[in-house]
Amino acid sequence: MAGKSILYIGGTGTISSACVARSLERGDAVTVLNRGTGRQPLPAGAESLVADARDPQSVRAALGDREFDAVAQFVAFTPDQVATDIDLYEGRTGQYVFISSASAYEKPPRRLPITESTPLRNPFWQYSRDKIACEDLLVGAFRERGLPVTIVRPSHTYDDRRLPNLGGWTDIARMRAGKPVVIHGDGTSLWTLTHSQDFAVAFSGLLGHPDAIGEAFTITGDHAPTWNQIYRWLADAAGVEAPQFVHVASETMAQLHPPFGPGLLGDRSHSVLFDTSRVRALVPEFRTTITFDEGARRLLAHYEAHPDLQILDDELDAAFDRIASVALSAAAAG
Ligand SMILES: NC(=O)c1ccc[n+]([C@@H]2O[C@H](COP(=O)([O-])OP(=O)(O)OC[C@H]3O[C@@H](n4cnc5c(N)ncnc54)[C@H](OP(=O)(O)O)[C@@H]3O)[C@@H](O)[C@H]2O)c1
Repeated sequence: MAGKSILYIGGTGTISSACVARSLERGDAVTVLNRGTGRQPLPAGAESLVADARDPQSVRAALGDREFDAVAQFVAFTPDQVATDIDLYEGRTGQYVFISSASAYEKPPRRLPITESTPLRNPFWQYSRDKIACEDLLVGAFRERGLPVTIVRPSHTYDDRRLPNLGGWTDIARMRAGKPVVIHGDGTSLWTLTHSQDFAVAFSGLLGHPDAIGEAFTITGDHAPTWNQIYRWLADAAGVEAPQFVHVASETMAQLHPPFGPGLLGDRSHSVLFDTSRVRALVPEFRTTITFDEGARRLLAHYEAHPDLQILDDELDAAFDRIASVALSAAAAG
């Protein structure tokens, strides 16, 4: 199924960079449409179109009368953005692939593993509700007039360039300074973490695949360490032998620092395990090759090589100080 013409909208991001590289490896003809901010160079062989996805006229001008076997949309978040896409791409693509989110699956989960039949409902996070509304619009267009839609739901997917833990580099700086590092809950919930290079194998295999039309797919690996283990691997990679971890209920963290609320209560505070047999049936070569022990080492190597990325976020640092001191004084009071 190689040799397809693929349009990536995005294409230089955390997930999409690896997908572009993989599609090129497969021999697909890859075009990437983004604003051309140059955050990540395009690999050799990819064609660049510069346009702003929020400005349909600029997209129309960049596309001309081009047609594609598949359009992969990485930067749509709301139904009005998807409606614009339907106007732009209906009739010029054999497949429209919408990147949704596994955070759309009901929270808290009633049972594990989560499958594509798990209901979509997230009362905690507007981002997830918007993704659900986007999916609804696309499924309606598929049912009514056969719009060739494929929905992909990634769970937490990271690359070598951006730390996936709540505090990012601020957590690493705190570990190294001997300050307490806050982990939500008791740290024993299971979190599925997928490296973008593994994700890309499954994703690129769905592009132009006739059996993917009208279907939704969860794409995650099967690696689901505890949060304690995730932070431990980060500490090991950062060379911190005895980090001080402080465990705090997610609800308390959300109360003390409200920006943490939606993502914690609507996603990462719950154990998530996924049944991915649907995507593996279509892309049998998909499997987990990069677990987070290696992922953490790669990330730390990247940050060490780029001192400009080692940014301590003062607001986050102060929030962690506040949360840790409330938790430590509660523990001291017995
Ligand atoms: N990472 C995860 O854990 C996760 C989990 C679930 C779902 N998702 C979904 O994955 C998608 C994000 O993918 P990603 O991580 O590869 O992206 P990303 O890291 O957020 O990068 C954004 C990409 O889109 C381009 N872009 C941003 N705004 C644009 C605009 N207005 N017009 C055209 N291009 C634009 C950027 O290039 P320029 O700046 O040059 O335009 C860049 O290529 C989102 O839909 C998100 O909901 C991610």
